[in-house]
Amino acid sequence: MTTTPAEPDQAALEARQAQLQASFDATIARHDRIEPRDWMPDAYRKTLVRQIAQHAHSEIIGMQPEGNWIGRAPSLRRKAILLAKVQDEAGHGLYLYSACETLGVSRAELTELLLAGRQKYSSIFNYPTLSYADVGTIGWLVDGAAICNQVPLCRTSYGPYGRAMIRICKEESFHQRQGFELLMTMMRGTGAQRAMVQESVDRFWWPSLMMFGPPDAESTNSEQSMAWGVKRNSNDELRQKFVDMTVPQAEALGVTLPDPDLRWNEERGHHDFGEPDWEELAAVIRGNGPCNAQRMAHRRAAHDDGAWVREAATAFAARPAPAPTSAPAEATHEEATR
Ligand SMILES: [Fe+2]
Ligand SMILES: [Fe+2]
Repeated sequence: MTTTPAEPDQAALEARQAQLQASFDATIARHDRIEPRDWMPDAYRKTLVRQIAQHAHSEIIGMQPEGNWIGRAPSLRRKAILLAKVQDEAGHGLYLYSACETLGVSRAELTELLLAGRQKYSSIFNYPTLSYADVGTIGWLVDGAAICNQVPLCRTSYGPYGRAMIRICKEESFHQRQGFELLMTMMRGTGAQRAMVQESVDRFWWPSLMMFGPPDAESTNSEQSMAWGVKRNSNDELRQKFVDMTVPQAEALGVTLPDPDLRWNEERGHHDFGEPDWEELAAVIRGNGPCNAQRMAHRRAAHDDGAWVREAATAFAARPAPAPTSAPAEATHEEATR
């Protein structure tokens, strides 16, 4: 009796698939890294692309609120600091687009998805920057919240993402310190400057808490991401950590955090705090925040304005190699690495 060739092939395929899945599960279970050439489930790859792309887009769109003040910085020193900070954010975007490319999707495709409104960026960047104090508040609170979110990502299960996060986190801590230093300087200034800081903190406090996403009970992607080791802590855990970290810093600065329910809970060993306005977060995510349209229009214009640079770079990369002029000696370092 003969069997049809399809049968054993199908069985072998399934066995192989089960083996790949088992090896993936074992890597995750021992908190080891998944690398670009390793087999991974499609859903894991998809989740990573979504998360890393959203993170990369946030770094790039996040240049806008602070970039708004580069031309109006109050001193050369402040301008140099702000320029360097905004450039760091561009660098973070590039590391993250590169990490995402290891999953088989190009930066150009990701940019198209953002511009088409099919991928998101962090809701916080849809709020306006109305005074120079906002530069300090963003560094202190927004970069501070980003650090809480991102430090656990240094141990995320996908290798290229985790390694990008290590460098990014170092720079984010520096951003937080520069924001705090700016606010501290203003708090030592005039009454008007102190009022400017307080007004800025009042506007950014709640949106900063929303950066951790919806409450755990309503967070749709969290459970699977935790199981895969993509995410290491829940939204609510990270939000609590941020509040506990920030309250003593606010005291040191001499600003009030605009939450009447904020108080130390001896029993829990944590601060209790009020509920952010989740309706507002949902509205901003839907595209109805104060600056969503402006941010996207600016991003689109920047992309269009940069078309000639991409064309020139592509043409340069595609140029034919120069013909050798004489018998080649040993390759120079430059030629060898071209
Ligand atoms: Fe960043
Ligand atoms: Fe930053």
